[in-house]
Amino acid sequence: NIPQFTLNTGYKIPSVGLGCWMGSPGGGEIAEQMCKTALQAGYRHIDTAYGYGNEEYVGKAIRESGVSREEIFLTTKLPNHHHHKVKESFEESLRKLGVDYVDLYLMHWPQAYTEDNKPIPYGRSPTFVETWKDMEALLDTGKVRSIGVSNFSIKLLEVLLRETDVVPATNQVECHPCLPSVDLKLWCEQRGILITAYSPLGRPGEFDGKPVFLDDPSVVSIAKSHNASPAQVALSWGVKRGTAVIPKSQNPERIKQNITLLDLTDEEMAALNEIHLKPGMHRSLLRYHEYSGDGTIFGWTYEQ
Ligand code: A2P
Repeated sequence: NIPQFTLNTGYKIPSVGLGCWMGSPGGGEIAEQMCKTALQAGYRHIDTAYGYGNEEYVGKAIRESGVSREEIFLTTKLPNHHHHKVKESFEESLRKLGVDYVDLYLMHWPQAYTEDNKPIPYGRSPTFVETWKDMEALLDTGKVRSIGVSNFSIKLLEVLLRETDVVPATNQVECHPCLPSVDLKLWCEQRGILITAYSPLGRPGEFDGKPVFLDDPSVVSIAKSHNASPAQVALSWGVKRGTAVIPKSQNPERIKQNITLLDLTDEEMAALNEIHLKPGMHRSLLRYHEYSGDGTIFGWTYEQ
């Protein structure tokens, strides 16, 4: 009974999906088992990417799950070093997944790379505008139902919407109580672009010694009052504010937990909206929203 959002293409997307980034490329059999467990637990939305290196395993899990393809919302993504060959890369993803179509195909990052993985400076071909036009052409093949982007800032979306015809169905970005991206979310909402929140649990484990919101006293107390976990609080907050969430878990108990949403009150939502304002809690990807001096668009550095 997971709520669904309606994309600007008319297709519906389940508000909770399984993220298949395993922390490093690959994770084959573990990813396969994780997808099977999730499908059994009622997930009908799976998010993978060429760059995750496990499309074959995700596809195998879907085929062997007993759940029909039509019931599953499947997303995959164009890698940075394939921006110059969108159609070829898309066909390769379909082959690896072993499916006839995907529900959503995303440009994984706005930044194009050469085949040997060097960033191509902003403004040089293939620009994300050129890449998007090639993605638009995929819609005519009937092998993809919706197209979208990932890791796009307002600044980049403004360029994209001005220069191209199809408004992305989604913008998939890192989003959680410590990085709520309020402005980006509002901007996208006003233009019919759904935000899909990746790392909706705030990447626990990656912030050695620094506070994470799963341990925040107000999150913990809200969780207790619902007899649930802090992760469920964060995911329920994400869905209630209108974003799809795609937590990754390979643990059967946590997989089940993550798809069980809570009915949060307005007061609880308001408290959760403030978490990122507490000292040390706000996270933002430093260069994420701007081009850096050398022409690359994004980086991985966190600002504290
Ligand atoms: P695991 O796969 O062992 O469950 P994010 O999606 O924000 O990047 O977070 C993914 C991380 O969060 C993984 O390390 C995952 O570990 C962990 N995780 C997933 N679900 C939960 C949960 N319900 N409670 C705590 N940690 C979780």
